[in-house]
Amino acid sequence: MTFSNSINGLSGRLIPAHALRILFLVLLLLLGVFSTACGGGDDDDDDASASDDDVTDDDTTDDDTTDDDTSDDDDTSDDDVTDDDTADDDTSDDDTSDDDTSDDDTADDDTSDDDTGDDDDDDVVPVECDEVSFVRGPYLQDVTQETIRVMWRTDAAGNSVVEYDEDETLDERVVDNELTDKHDLQLTGLAPGTSYNYRADSCGVKSSTADFSTAPVWGTPFKFAVIGDTQDHPEVHTQVAAAALDWRPNILLHVGDLVGDGWRKGDYDTEYFTPAADLLQRTTVFPSVGNHDANSPYYFDSFHYPGNGKWGYYSFTYSNVFFIALNTTWLYYPGSHQYRWLIEQLESDAAADADWVIVYAHHPPYCEGWEGYDGEWMVRQFLVPVFEDYGIDFYFSGHTHDYERGNLNGVNYIISGGGGGSLDDVQVRDYEHVTVWAGVHHFTGVTVDGKTLTLKAYDLDDKEIDSYTITK
Ligand SMILES: [Fe+2]
Repeated sequence: MTFSNSINGLSGRLIPAHALRILFLVLLLLLGVFSTACGGGDDDDDDASASDDDVTDDDTTDDDTTDDDTSDDDDTSDDDVTDDDTADDDTSDDDTSDDDTSDDDTADDDTSDDDTGDDDDDDVVPVECDEVSFVRGPYLQDVTQETIRVMWRTDAAGNSVVEYDEDETLDERVVDNELTDKHDLQLTGLAPGTSYNYRADSCGVKSSTADFSTAPVWGTPFKFAVIGDTQDHPEVHTQVAAAALDWRPNILLHVGDLVGDGWRKGDYDTEYFTPAADLLQRTTVFPSVGNHDANSPYYFDSFHYPGNGKWGYYSFTYSNVFFIALNTTWLYYPGSHQYRWLIEQLESDAAADADWVIVYAHHPPYCEGWEGYDGEWMVRQFLVPVFEDYGIDFYFSGHTHDYERGNLNGVNYIISGGGGGSLDDVQVRDYEHVTVWAGVHHFTGVTVDGKTLTLKAYDLDDKEIDSYTITK
């Protein structure tokens, strides 16, 4: 208003009004052009900054997108596998494909490195990363000849770092700076059958150092342990896990009922991960789902299965053994997805190429130690005929809290359910085909050496309660 009045005043004394108006418009136009030019320059600068920022943001966004994509891919992959398991021509390939997907972790590492510049320390500990405490793990998942997953939980969100090496230097490192309290990092490019030292790190807080071994090349002798029903009594589970660790298995199968109440979140730490912490830090566990685990999200959140493990059934090859984990708390009647998937696994190249085919799940077809329960009718009805038709070597289960071994029509049936739950310590029936029964807490240890397999079971006094060797 002031500017306008002064112009009007000026126009009245020195210049004709219409000429002044024209001059004024020209001035405005020039100012506008100048402003636009300056603004454009500023905008350019801003754009440059914004552009830089955008690049950064985009990088971040891309990273996020990559992460999201990775997750999505995983999900998609899982969905695909779950929805159409015929895509799983080869479970080992699934592993590989899964590994490939998980290589995104490595991409994340690269991205993290790029994002944080050259300062490795910044790389490891973002500014916004507060100090955290470990509440679970680290523990191992999905080991293959070249990869392994390290998982752990923290009490608050932090970044994820695994330092590892074949020696004590721990010079190799995988980093994911996305903040989370559920850490899951895959190490890739490892050598088969090789021992590595490692430790996990979140926000600069490091776990103790432990060792793991990658899966050996095909045909290499190895040992696996079987534990089941670790529920309810962590003090017993602690002893069972320690005994199994002393035996130093390469891998661990769990035949279900990790905890007493799968829908009670805290049970997974108090009853499973804490009592078995030392074992799980050094031995990859491949669990199956028990009725007490109850297909809980707390259960599935805790593990990263090979391949198509979304519904708790999956398979993998380890040396010359093809393992198939079933979920007998899910549908498995003929025609069901799991049943069809099982047939596909048994007809796969992985099964044909293996010296041994070993199936495991929670429910036994027969049992001698449980009053009022003689075994799972549906396992007898639906699975036993398949096991016999395809000539599997072993079916490991739990559910009954004892140890039992028998052979029916060429298939060896083992119950190894003495991992901590209250014992079924009275033999209440006697099946002709069940030759060994022991109502004690225990773990089972199996040594595979080519075409010779030796199975032993040990109680908590390290007493051998069974010894069984077969050669093909
Ligand atoms: Fe059970």
